[in-house]
Amino acid sequence: MNQALRAQSQSSDGPAYAIPLDQIDVSNPEHFRDNTLWSYFERLRREDPVHFCRDSLFGPYWSVTKFKDIMHVETHPKIFSSEAGLGGITIMDNNAAAQLPMFIAMDPPKHDEQRKIVSPIVGPENLARMESLIRERTSRALDELPVNQTFNWVEKVSINLTTQMLATLFDFPWEDRAKLSYWSDVTTALPGAGLVNSEEERMAELLKCAEYMTRLWNERVNSPPRGDLISMLAHAEGTRNMSPQEFLGNILLLIVGGNDTTRNSMTGGVLALNENPNEYRKLCANPALIASLVPEVVRWQTPLAHMRRTALHDTELGGKLIRKGDKVVMWYVSGNRDSDEIENADHFIIDRAKPRHHLSFGFGIHRCVGNRLAELQLRILWEELLRRWPEPMQLEVVGEPKRVLSPFVKGYESLPVRIRA
Ligand code: HEM
Repeated sequence: MNQALRAQSQSSDGPAYAIPLDQIDVSNPEHFRDNTLWSYFERLRREDPVHFCRDSLFGPYWSVTKFKDIMHVETHPKIFSSEAGLGGITIMDNNAAAQLPMFIAMDPPKHDEQRKIVSPIVGPENLARMESLIRERTSRALDELPVNQTFNWVEKVSINLTTQMLATLFDFPWEDRAKLSYWSDVTTALPGAGLVNSEEERMAELLKCAEYMTRLWNERVNSPPRGDLISMLAHAEGTRNMSPQEFLGNILLLIVGGNDTTRNSMTGGVLALNENPNEYRKLCANPALIASLVPEVVRWQTPLAHMRRTALHDTELGGKLIRKGDKVVMWYVSGNRDSDEIENADHFIIDRAKPRHHLSFGFGIHRCVGNRLAELQLRILWEELLRRWPEPMQLEVVGEPKRVLSPFVKGYESLPVRIRA
């Protein structure tokens, strides 16, 4: 196994210990692309769990790095706001898409009203209905994979399957479904990182999304209500009169929410099992462990590295005075490695007693609405994978993963793998 595939955690001799504490800037996107973030977070958790960074690509911000402090911020929305107008839910306040009104970036009561409208699509009844469709598609995608040849897992499996899922949720024209993952990527990309070069370019691309979705909306608003997201929004009291900005904002939320996150968990699981062959062997010996593998992969990957809030009042956190208007970043990626809360947090262990005890889906009023759908997709993927290739390391990572340059979406552009027949 090559160097990049070795255990991700570092000890106290990592690069973070070579610089003064107040110069640590965990938001540097390169740390995420190069997978060098771990020692910085470890040092902050130990020495300065609520840490102020004066100067970064994204301006000054507070880092909240311990599990319990993150829970405190999550459960006090009257102090820590998500409102788009104050900066929204990511560290990148200059991202024009993130400034659009959308319910993840709203406080109650409007947030609660809009969340309730779309929640049924990922409720238990609908998930039970979707299970056979997801299995059929997953099986087809796996049956089409090349055997004994190197290929990119991200493209052939993760993007393929999550794009199909999105098309179903939106009842989106099948032949155009690749547009959905493209718009998702455009929404979160850092300008200059390969997809768009400026905020103007980003918004020009996303206006095409707005136009396309408006056409679907106009068709569905005049037809009887159906079970897809667009029809649900078009027929509900709380969303039928949204402004064009709010319409685009909520559409992008629903596209991005279900896309990158699940995609990167599908890839992260393959990587984590290859980095931890003992766990891969355990899984093959007892496929019932898929039930606890799935949440462990979601913890381990932490597909969204952070969520951000803005302080509405002066307040104290971890002995620090946070001022009204300050930007507060909850680093889930760090809370998920906090060994005061999670035993052996730096290890990937697929048979944990409480595997769902993690922060990857957030907590409180904004806790991920789609978490059960994501887990369902991941469970089916692993069931179908092990049915076809039941031996440890039969699905083998054969080269370096290429990671995304972003302090928000923690994921992969590519992962070379090979299936041994
Ligand atoms: C919210 C993560 C899958 C839709 C969130 C939040 C996180 C998250 C961290 C914010 C939580 C907070 O602020 O406390 C993830 C991860 C996923 C995933 C890690 C997969 C492994 C999905 C899927 C969907 C979805 C499949 C849709 C079908 C949403 C929506 C929100 C949300 C709409 C906003 C909820 C609100 O503001 O009330 N997700 N998500 N997510 N997620 Fe997910």
